[in-house]
Amino acid sequence: NDPIPKDSPLDHTMNLMREGYEFLSHRMERFQTDLFETRVMGQKVLCIRGAEAVKLFYDPERFKRHRATPKRIQKSLFGENAIQTMDDKAHLHRKQLFLSMMKPEDEQELARLTHETWRRVAEGWKKSRPIVLFDEAKRVLCQVACEWAEVPLKSTEIDRRAEDFHAMVDAFGAVGPRHWRGRKGRRRTERWIQSIIHQVRTGSLQAREGSPLYKVSYHRELNGKLLDERMAAIELINVLRPIVAIATFISFAAIALQEHPEWQERLKNGSNEEFHMFVQEVRRYYPFAPLIGAKVRKSFTWKGVRFKKGRLVFLDMYGTNHDPKLWDEPDAFRPERFQERKDSLYDFIPQGGGDPTKGHRCPGEGITVEVMKTTMDFLVNDIDYDVPDQDISYSLSRMPTRPESGYIMANIERKYEHA
Ligand code: HEM
Repeated sequence: NDPIPKDSPLDHTMNLMREGYEFLSHRMERFQTDLFETRVMGQKVLCIRGAEAVKLFYDPERFKRHRATPKRIQKSLFGENAIQTMDDKAHLHRKQLFLSMMKPEDEQELARLTHETWRRVAEGWKKSRPIVLFDEAKRVLCQVACEWAEVPLKSTEIDRRAEDFHAMVDAFGAVGPRHWRGRKGRRRTERWIQSIIHQVRTGSLQAREGSPLYKVSYHRELNGKLLDERMAAIELINVLRPIVAIATFISFAAIALQEHPEWQERLKNGSNEEFHMFVQEVRRYYPFAPLIGAKVRKSFTWKGVRFKKGRLVFLDMYGTNHDPKLWDEPDAFRPERFQERKDSLYDFIPQGGGDPTKGHRCPGEGITVEVMKTTMDFLVNDIDYDVPDQDISYSLSRMPTRPESGYIMANIERKYEHA
């Protein structure tokens, strides 16, 4: 007898779209399990959650990424045949390129640029005009990402480029117009970045040695060849786009500040550790990446269940970050929980799990954390603002989600001197 609970035999793609972040945990709760089988996108899928599941999922002997990501997601979010779809030596070699751009000094430089850009942009805000934090953050981070990567960006381009980066991310759980906006944003961005790579390689644009633009332009594959220009563009976009995506966590962090005034107080001239705890809890508590898929490399049995070669497996990321077996009161926002917590590669997985140097875990977590910390510092210590009545709810069925209003701030006053 097969010990695994199964969803009804119908295809559940529509339910996944409708139930969003909670699709997997609804079923885990119903079946009282961390492992069940469903059917989506016309195929059987094994769904897993929890720390042991994360450890299993990030074992490269057992899983591969080739053919695990639907083309529609590659054509909007990731780019076709990019790092997310690679395996083995070729993946690790490509990963080194990314890790070489995400050293502690890059995190610090990005944090510095982020703070400076928020302050500069805030100089242009008028007290009488409310702003939408999510929209401002996208534009700020687009400028920061390009400046750090040394990708030329004209001031007249900022809005369009920021919206295109956002459209790619916004497409991931979408069908219809939102999906097509993502594809259009990707096409336009690939053309733009590809032309910059071309200019670098032909000498009409000077790239500073050591800059991210230079590193990607001159990265060599294991066979010694340069990436083709389109692939180089796709991978450089895989660095720029997620920096802009931090805007989502920033708008959630602003809600957390509003709803937890004691943290607003603590962060006033707060310690680095306090900022860190707050930001970690924002990344755990609020929904962003829902799940991740991989394929079974060769058949094996785990907890009495057969994982057949080629089977698609979904790891429940949101559910693992809210798993009552791993987190005390998982549905309470409590940054203090990060004070005494020991680091583990397998239970806190807002950006994937395992060792980022050995598998697919996001290499940009340090950047995300530093950019969020400095933005919190700006919001708490550099400005005063009012929060007008608005809808700050967010839907768990839309993937990706964000606060409805984008977080409106009014009567903003600067507490710092003009630069
Ligand atoms: C991979 C989430 C920020 C670059 C990933 C993965 C997730 C993720 C879920 C997939 C993990 C896996 O396949 O197992 C996020 C979230 C972010 C964020 C929620 C917050 C905005 C960043 C930043 C960068 C970045 C700031 C770079 C500057 C990448 C790259 C990969 C990746 C290159 C592919 C890694 C690989 O396949 O080996 N991210 N990320 N991400 N992320 Fe992030």
